[in-house]
Amino acid sequence: MFKIIKYPEIILRKTAKIVTSFDIELKETSIEMYNIMQKLGGIGLAGPQINFNKRIVIIGDLNNKDYSVYVNPEITYFSNDKEISEEGCLSLPNIFGLVKRSKKIHLKYKDLEGNKIKEKLKGLKSVVIQHEIDHLNGILFIDRVEEITKGKEKLKELKYKLENNV
Ligand code: CO
Repeated sequence: MFKIIKYPEIILRKTAKIVTSFDIELKETSIEMYNIMQKLGGIGLAGPQINFNKRIVIIGDLNNKDYSVYVNPEITYFSNDKEISEEGCLSLPNIFGLVKRSKKIHLKYKDLEGNKIKEKLKGLKSVVIQHEIDHLNGILFIDRVEEITKGKEKLKELKYKLENNV
């Protein structure tokens, strides 16, 4: 059974590995990721967040009835046009902050069968995908945040723990 990995656990800072085998383990992992995400009420989840150090991301749809899986996702275009929105993260519960990201992106990725797909994204989905791909590169939204809007004290506490090894 997977559990959610929380900041400041070190796996969240590692670069996830490229997926090379599109096997049953990958499919099962994506289903487990969806179950965890739904249970915790998130809209996106990346492999490292469940201690699966591979380049896989899932994004829930807005009514949380369905989800999309992105394997080895790469952003090939970021619009210069950016917007600021409030982000949170299942690995940083009860902490929220304002992050500036590109409004539109072009994405290439593979599906669970290994088929190559290209997609243009905008709006919330574009923001969520950028947040999740950051996870695959060991980057968290608190690294990009312009302002913490909720949980400032909690974050301070966690950073203190990290810096002082307690
Ligand atoms: Co996150």
